[in-house]
Amino acid sequence: MLLTEDAPALTRIDPAFRRDIVEGLSRTPKATPPIWFYDRKGSELFEQITDLPEYYPTRTETALLERHGPDFAAAVGEGRAVVEFGAGSSRKTPHLLRAIAPAAYVPIDISGDFLHTSSAQLASAFPGLPVLPVVGDFNGPLTLPAAIEGLPRLGFFPGSTIGNMEPDAAVDLLRAMRALLGDGAMLLIGMDRIKDRDRLIAAYDDAAGVTAAFNLNLVERINRELEGDLPIDGFAHRARWNDEKARIEMHLEAVRPLHFHVAGQCFQMEAGETIHTESSHKYGARDARLLLRAGGWAPSQEWTDADGLFSLVLAKAG
Ligand code: AVJ
Repeated sequence: MLLTEDAPALTRIDPAFRRDIVEGLSRTPKATPPIWFYDRKGSELFEQITDLPEYYPTRTETALLERHGPDFAAAVGEGRAVVEFGAGSSRKTPHLLRAIAPAAYVPIDISGDFLHTSSAQLASAFPGLPVLPVVGDFNGPLTLPAAIEGLPRLGFFPGSTIGNMEPDAAVDLLRAMRALLGDGAMLLIGMDRIKDRDRLIAAYDDAAGVTAAFNLNLVERINRELEGDLPIDGFAHRARWNDEKARIEMHLEAVRPLHFHVAGQCFQMEAGETIHTESSHKYGARDARLLLRAGGWAPSQEWTDADGLFSLVLAKAG
């Protein structure tokens, strides 16, 4: 029997993960895409983040969705197909669906496991609503289910996920959504606001250390899935506010000179050097509108909490 115990482990290497990490660590400064945070443990840690006292975005956005249902209903009307980008395990969607009486719900997510579990839950909570999940990466080409052909669409992009993108990529994505959803479409998008820097930093460097564990989980994932030997105790979680770019950055900082291997390649870091693991862009009210317009959408209404922490913007296909 020639199959060795190594064979299954080798076939488990995700080539896209390996390419992104090896390329990201080869660059100066080192930077890796945030999508790779979300393995099972990373997704669980993110769920914990959303419940932290310091992490205001999720609870603020959920409260907006709960509170303004009648406004959404008046603005978008009944009978739309709601297309949610990056649906995951979203607990926010039921508030929207309850408010607007849609004709269908199309959750799109890259993780089929997550998507099928949450779609089944949603379908049983909304009997009579066709739930048509699409497994796919919304950063690539997508096809919508034939069953929603001819229905007017409402894109739903909550969570300030757009904030993870550099502005040029955000504009490209908004344009792709505009093309996918078609004429007459609307978009309801969540965007985190610029605010007091201490409040922003606390949201990404919480006292309980959950965000640190989320960031450091990437190191563990690289070691496990890409034959890495990065020392976990060689890295410290850092959250910085980059005022010029209006974004929170998360980094993994080398606490001493490091050398390690990933997928057979050698890497070195000086003490104090970082791997930039995530950017979370924040948008003032005007910035948000300008971004949408650049992406082919005409903003028509917006909702924010009393402290102006987070905003939901509704826009029409331009
Ligand atoms: C899921 C991208 C919106 O940027 O706030 C939370 C991810 N990272 N804490 C965000 C995240 C660290 C989150 N998004």
